[in-house]
Amino acid sequence: MEINLVSDTVTKPTPEMLRYMFQAQVGDDVYKQDPTVIALETMVAQIFGMEAALFFPSGTMANQTAIKLHTQPGEQLIADKYAHVFNYEGGGASFNSGVSCKLLDGNRGMITAEQVAEAINDPEFYHAPLTSLVCVENTTNKGGGACYDFEEFKRIRKVCDENNLKFHMDGARIWNALVHKKENPTEYGKVFDTISVCLSKGLGAPIGSLLVSDKATINRAFRIRKILGGGMRQVGYLAAAGIYALQNNVNRLVDDHQRARELGAVLENLPWVEKVEPVETNILIFSLKKGFDEKLLIEKLKQKSIFISSLGPGKLRIVTHLDYKAVMHNYVIDTLKKLV
Ligand SMILES: Cc1ncc(COP(=O)(O)O)c(C=O)c1O
Repeated sequence: MEINLVSDTVTKPTPEMLRYMFQAQVGDDVYKQDPTVIALETMVAQIFGMEAALFFPSGTMANQTAIKLHTQPGEQLIADKYAHVFNYEGGGASFNSGVSCKLLDGNRGMITAEQVAEAINDPEFYHAPLTSLVCVENTTNKGGGACYDFEEFKRIRKVCDENNLKFHMDGARIWNALVHKKENPTEYGKVFDTISVCLSKGLGAPIGSLLVSDKATINRAFRIRKILGGGMRQVGYLAAAGIYALQNNVNRLVDDHQRARELGAVLENLPWVEKVEPVETNILIFSLKKGFDEKLLIEKLKQKSIFISSLGPGKLRIVTHLDYKAVMHNYVIDTLKKLV
């Protein structure tokens, strides 16, 4: 039994999901003739109370499309220093959109309205790049699954309105935040210009993300997706996985959160653990006491068929997910406690 806690992207479609995918009605989505893709897009737009959505192969492409939508070459976006759009999208913001990023020193990947206001370049000062976009992530990945206080989004929105900035949310794990905070997704639709969401993380679909916005913006996004090479044909089979995931796998995220919290509690009491970051959702970040090597810990766990990842010297990450079952959880807890 292999227990992979490296990421929530490692899940495999269940037989039920595969059956649902196989019975999908499909058409050519580049001609907007795939009824299952249209059904998924309509469903996700409705969830957020927004006008339209567009299906993407990846969260990266959905985010990069959003950046392209909201900026012109030479401009600047504001994000936290941990932001996925800056750290893990291959430099796409500069490659695709020609923009630079002003990175803020936030708390666990989250930034405040005050920090945003301070980071905006004076539009009259033509030596500096024009600030045009704010990107936030919820939950934060590198920040350890942290969830924003929704009031902060409203405050950042106000700063955006006052300064003519667009506001994008990377909601790769928005489902975890919604479940954890018991929030209403339509509130998000009122605050953001665009939201990207993923089906291939906590929800267990093999692929798929969507960008949600108003109709005119999504029409523009359709063209950008084409330019980025993301137009797909009979992709309803994959969209069906997303519909299945949304119908069946959202509420159960509380189990992942519970297991991550339980692992955090175990780690906190181990003599070789220095600090466990607060666990809100399914991502758990912890650091080792001086003299303990994270590579050695990874190796020792690997020998017990448990896989976790490094976040740099002395720092590690565990991510719980759909394929991490109760029996595995007991084994991991047991193994951690016995480890010397
Ligand atoms: C916060 C966040 N945004 C975006 C992405 C990109 O998603 P994808 O791997 O589908 O491109 C990820 C992937 O893990 C992520 O964690």
